[in-house]
Amino acid sequence: MKLTKKTKKLLEINVLKNYEELSSTVADIVAKHIVEWPVTNIALPTGSTPIGMYEELVKKFDLEWTYVKTFNLDEYIMNPNHEQSYHSFMKKHLFDKINIMPSQCYFPDRNTKAYEKKMKDMGGIDLCILGIGSNGHIAFNEPGTSFKSRTRVVDLSEQTIQDNSRFFGSVDDVPKQAITIGLGTIMESKKIILIANGDHKLNILNVAMAGEVTESIPASILQTHNNVEVYYCD
Ligand code: PGA
Repeated sequence: MKLTKKTKKLLEINVLKNYEELSSTVADIVAKHIVEWPVTNIALPTGSTPIGMYEELVKKFDLEWTYVKTFNLDEYIMNPNHEQSYHSFMKKHLFDKINIMPSQCYFPDRNTKAYEKKMKDMGGIDLCILGIGSNGHIAFNEPGTSFKSRTRVVDLSEQTIQDNSRFFGSVDDVPKQAITIGLGTIMESKKIILIANGDHKLNILNVAMAGEVTESIPASILQTHNNVEVYYCD
């Protein structure tokens, strides 16, 4: 996909003091969004980076989640009851601690078209929170993914399997496939917040936010979105 200079912009990286400040800043953004728009659709990430944000959301606010719908960005192809599934992650870090019903919390599954349709029928994603992988992936859109991609089953890259092996007993236990929303899907979100923690993410973050917009760095597509905020701490 060719992008003109006009559609590309450098994304400012907001550098925060530490992980606590990163977590509370992004939790404040989510909380303010829910207070202002109680009927809303929010896309949520997993991984180590957002754990502090979820903790802050639970601890600091007494939010009304009744009319919020959540859409997780991705899920491994594995038993959703497995302790490392993203279903389990979300229950542990957020859903079991707030007033949200399982029927309001959506996860992608093999019926990928139905997931896209559900998001669309409900009015689309208002706020999308993203992490970034060390290879520039967002959700499980690995390098080389089409910018037009939609929700689908994907093979995880060797890098991602290595990165995520810290959550599993060994690298062999990491699922090799997942279901992820696409880059085209993410780009339809009205507002996007990208968060990154750790100096091992700084290089890829700089490249993705200020370098060439290229399918070999999936997060670089965010330079062409008109409402993205980026938060980083080392
Ligand atoms: P991490 O993962 O938060 O565990 O670093 C981010 C990602 O891979 O999207």
